[in-house]
Amino acid sequence: MNRQLIREDKINIDDIESYGKIIACLLKNKDVIIMIGSLGYGKTTLTRNIAKSLESEDIITSPTFTIINEYNIILENEESVLRHVDLYRLESEDDIDSIGLYDIIYSDGVSIIEWGDKFINFFEKPYYILEIERLDDNNRNFKLFIEK
Ligand SMILES: Nc1ncnc2c1ncn2[C@@H]1O[C@H](COP(=O)(O)OP(=O)(O)OP(=O)(O)O)[C@@H](O)[C@H]1O
Ligand SMILES: [Mg+2]
Repeated sequence: MNRQLIREDKINIDDIESYGKIIACLLKNKDVIIMIGSLGYGKTTLTRNIAKSLESEDIITSPTFTIINEYNIILENEESVLRHVDLYRLESEDDIDSIGLYDIIYSDGVSIIEWGDKFINFFEKPYYILEIERLDDNNRNFKLFIEK
């Protein structure tokens, strides 16, 4: 395992928009971010703010039931897509194969995966890991790693 900490930030809900911008600015075509954090920690909230920073005008909702949501974004000055994936309800690698996730996330665009740590061996390195720790109602500690 080669996991390197890129940055660690304590973020209040009032600052989540600017934190979303920081993460959005790092992203390049075909990047994958795996978000790790329990129910209600802020994975979808952060994704919404990343999408907003990437000029998406779409309404970002939780993919818990749809599994994959796609949004139009501008990435590095070009039209692109953000795929927001939630693997919470998937039970096996067969489920992953049956939705064709591999081809979907390794095509052009960027992907943010909630509950990707359930199937961590499925993902090709390098990828980002964003670990969320709950400090209190309105504050979270975010650790961004790159796994190579
Ligand atoms: N600092 C913070 N950063 C992000 N969200 C926060 C913060 N403080 C409070 N919150 C709140 O926590 C909740 C996070 O909910 P969200 O749906 O984003 O969680 P989630 O991690 O995607 O959960 P799930 O696993 O159920 O999909 C929101 O109501 C949000 O307003
Ligand atoms: Mg969510």
